[in-house]
Amino acid sequence: MPSSPERVSRRACLTLAAAAGMAMSAAPALAQSPSLDTFARARGMRFGGAVGAGRPGRVNGSYADPRYWALLASECGVIVPENELKWYALHPAPGVYTFERGDAMQAKAAAGGLEMRGHNLLWHRSQYLPAWVNDHDFGSNPGAAAEKLLVDHIETVCAHYPHIRSWDVVNETVDETTGQMRETVFTRYLGTEVIDIAFHAARRAAPHAQLVYNDYMSWEPADANHRDGVLRLLERLKANKVPVDALGLQSHIQPMGQDVGKLATAQTAEWVRFLDSATGMGLDLLITEFDVADKHLPADIAVRDRAVADYARAYLDLTLSYRQVKQVLSWGLVDKYSWLQAETPRADGLPERPTLYDGDLKAKPLREAVAQALRSAPSR
Ligand code: XIL
Repeated sequence: MPSSPERVSRRACLTLAAAAGMAMSAAPALAQSPSLDTFARARGMRFGGAVGAGRPGRVNGSYADPRYWALLASECGVIVPENELKWYALHPAPGVYTFERGDAMQAKAAAGGLEMRGHNLLWHRSQYLPAWVNDHDFGSNPGAAAEKLLVDHIETVCAHYPHIRSWDVVNETVDETTGQMRETVFTRYLGTEVIDIAFHAARRAAPHAQLVYNDYMSWEPADANHRDGVLRLLERLKANKVPVDALGLQSHIQPMGQDVGKLATAQTAEWVRFLDSATGMGLDLLITEFDVADKHLPADIAVRDRAVADYARAYLDLTLSYRQVKQVLSWGLVDKYSWLQAETPRADGLPERPTLYDGDLKAKPLREAVAQALRSAPSR
């Protein structure tokens, strides 16, 4: 198995995990101590969580829940707005910017001593661009006009949030099935170079920020084309000297059955190959949107929570064995606020349990698995 020099051997890492005591304790109550960020810091990382205002009629947002903010403050060093910095939230009409919600989040984060990450400057999928961008009349010189629109957006948003030190510059431009770049109004006029343009603009507008390509290729077998496509994109960007500093591993992981140990073992070699290739290009890594979909697990809560925790532990042990991973962010901390409740419901209609805390804000076995993985990770 190829191995990057930055990576601690999997065996060493499993031995460490065993020494740290893998047995999970019963779920304790809110305000865990030490916090996940404390464990992360001890290894040279940060831990964080997403917070969002939700979508009317779908998932209620965690943003309005003071207990959720208390949980963020007690567990995290970093927050990331789930939707509030996206183009459709910030720039709803030509020349109109609505920063209020993002600003409110930044103020709450600062009051709680939390840093805020930026997600994202260009979600390069037509369905997530505002309709006015998709339908825009770019006039007689559409290439120049499309470039100006994109660059103006990036400059305006970066200038408004000068304290953001890590930006997802481009999100999800690789099609998961074909591995090719998605086509949008921007590729129509700028070709694949739209990605280069976005990163160069971000570097100029946020010269001190870490610039991230973020996507959801994961370690499951179904993601092979997606992984290959992302590597091809990153190779092209590096060859063109495009300023991309890190790869964001969204880490929406999903066990396809209950035998999670067997699944994890079978997926290890390909994930190592992928991470070796990305780090071999000199990229840093971040876990940007961690959660564990439980759609393919049985209804029984104890069984489900155990399988989710064990699958996550195997994923995190392997991924955190790469010292290039400096941040671990969970896409929400509380099940009832998870985007997955609306996005991918279970066939039996039961609420999903994809995050670290249950609806009463009690820590679940997944919280303990994350804690143990952070404690067992090599220092960086
Ligand atoms: C999701 C949010 O969680 C939802 O509230 C919203 O309706 C859609 O977007 N990949 C990403 C995130 O990069 O921005 C997505 O967030 C989840 C998948």
